Amino acid sequence: MSRTDSDLLAEIATAQGTPTYVYSARSLEAATLRWVEAAGDAERIFFAAKANTNLAVLRRLCGTGIGIEVATAGERARAERAGFPADRILLGGVPKSADVVVQGMGSGLGLVVLQAGHEVDAAVSAADPAHPTRIGVRVRPGIRAGAHPSLETGRTDAKFGFEPADVADIWSRLAATGGLEPEVLAVHLGSGIDSLEPWDRALDVLLELADGLAASGVPVREFDLGGGLGVDYSSDVDPDPAALIHGVDRRLLGTGLCSRFEPGRSIMARAGLLLTRVLYRREREGTPALVCDAGFTDFARFALYGAQHRIEAVAGSPAGPPTVDVLGPTCESGDVIGTGRSLHDVQPGDLLVVRDVGAYGFVMASNYNSRPRPAEVMLENGDFRVVRERETLEDLWRGEPTT
Ligand SMILES: Cc1ncc(COP(=O)(O)O)c(C=O)c1O
Repeated sequence: MSRTDSDLLAEIATAQGTPTYVYSARSLEAATLRWVEAAGDAERIFFAAKANTNLAVLRRLCGTGIGIEVATAGERARAERAGFPADRILLGGVPKSADVVVQGMGSGLGLVVLQAGHEVDAAVSAADPAHPTRIGVRVRPGIRAGAHPSLETGRTDAKFGFEPADVADIWSRLAATGGLEPEVLAVHLGSGIDSLEPWDRALDVLLELADGLAASGVPVREFDLGGGLGVDYSSDVDPDPAALIHGVDRRLLGTGLCSRFEPGRSIMARAGLLLTRVLYRREREGTPALVCDAGFTDFARFALYGAQHRIEAVAGSPAGPPTVDVLGPTCESGDVIGTGRSLHDVQPGDLLVVRDVGAYGFVMASNYNSRPRPAEVMLENGDFRVVRERETLEDLWRGEPTT
């Protein structure tokens, strides 16, 4: 960490308190441009909003020309609020209530991906021939991929999508309904995938399905290959979106099929860090554990997935063996931010940063223990601005009768 970086982080901690999420506008735009350049067209890339829904983040992403994949009415509302026009919004293939699907019909959305029977029923019942809707069908290809079992979404026993064997009937039903235009087969294999091989296998499944559907008179036009490309949390070197996209393009050459992608983590992870202050050291047989003011309520990725993010001292890189655990302050022993770090010289009051938390960081924060959620700030042009105020105590009981 350079001197200027640490000065700025210390200034943010003083002005805004800790824990605070710090995003870099330059970094999130650079990561987006890597995808856009590899795809040759911003319209093939849809940021998965679930990774980070801060309005300032979404506005920046909107400015790059890419689209956005939303999973809920709330994510859709945020995308609209941030300025995404309806035709750049993709209602994604995750479990949705019938109401969310109905609201998506005839509303100008670029694509609505259906992934369960009740979603198909809702789309058929609300289809509006005067305002047709492009439809995708999510397939469960039976592939294991993802950094943790909870992040594998394409395997046979996953709750998402249709069995390949069921797709032809669903496709025919959609095609026979005025106001629905089935055009896309979709997969999302999982999250944190570090090899391209799972997409290759998914393409085998999708190409065979598309072949079969060609006879239906309503051919598949496009594959939505979801998100899932990982980042290496232990280094600065990531799997390259260009390798994924060019590999897919090669497989689709001559088929007339196009493809799109829904990256979340690989656009946002590197663009965020979590700033936290050490509350106290607890010595355990000569080895300290550091208890800091960020807990699993602020950053859940270690508790949920055992994810080990790099953790550094803002004031410098202390030496010593990698034996120091970094713990949160809440009332559970599972409240851990990371384990086995070289942070021996760190003292109470010192600042730490948890790296690469721009994706699935703040969006997974909770109010457990009645802890107000952290502030979020954006670094822009060498300075910072608050893009979400830290929650106040009053925020904690908003909507509850207080007398
Ligand atoms: C349908 C869909 N698309 C895209 C993504 C984004 O995945 P990632 O952040 O791993 O790129 C997800 C994540 O769960 C998803 O469910």
